[in-house]
Amino acid sequence: MSAFGQEQGQEIVELVNGLLDDTTAEPLLSLVVESAGRLVGHILFTQAKLQSDKEVSVRILAPLAVACDFQGTGIGGALIREGLSQLAESGVDLVFVLGHIGYYPKFGFQTAGVLGYEAPHPIPSEKADAWMVQALKAGVIGRIEGKVQCSEVLNQPQHWRE
Ligand SMILES: CC(C)(COP(=O)(O)OP(=O)(O)OC[C@H]1O[C@@H](n2cnc3c(N)ncnc32)[C@H](O)[C@@H]1OP(=O)(O)O)[C@@H](O)C(=O)NCCC(=O)NCCS
Repeated sequence: MSAFGQEQGQEIVELVNGLLDDTTAEPLLSLVVESAGRLVGHILFTQAKLQSDKEVSVRILAPLAVACDFQGTGIGGALIREGLSQLAESGVDLVFVLGHIGYYPKFGFQTAGVLGYEAPHPIPSEKADAWMVQALKAGVIGRIEGKVQCSEVLNQPQHWRE
């Protein structure tokens, strides 16, 4: 996970390994891109729940990483699009992400807080826009809202500092 630099990279490797072993993160969707036998891109979507009286299927996108020497070549975007397409096919309603506000809106994400979706841990107000959502079905946003509850491994405060 050189994409995140050495220190944060180690934290991300531990997060991914933890999530892959976390039964509360299931069902999960993990997609990779390889080039000449080397893993150069990875995206993970894990199970989440919405504290709401309405039935809704929710996932969180975290993390997404592209190897430094492959960044800016469309791999991140391709992983996001493919992941969202597979999740839509399997009936998922909402996908959340805490990430770069200059990046995720390119792929249809919008600020989640103002739409009534509270993050599992408080996001500092100056970073509030980094908490984003995308609906994969019409008529969900505006009708269903609530606080998002993520898997046990992701539910650690250090993973919620954008
Ligand atoms: C952020 C990251 C996943 C993007 O993946 P990528 O494969 O480099 O991105 P793409 O090639 O699909 O980029 C698509 C567009 O987003 C832009 N972009 C890439 N990273 C961006 C960022 N951090 N902020 C804003 N825009 C960004 C690209 O310039 C490109 O713009 P264009 O379509 O106008 O040319 C990747 O750079 C990465 O792994 N970074 C380090 C780890 C990280 O920050 N992960 C995300 C944690 S939430």
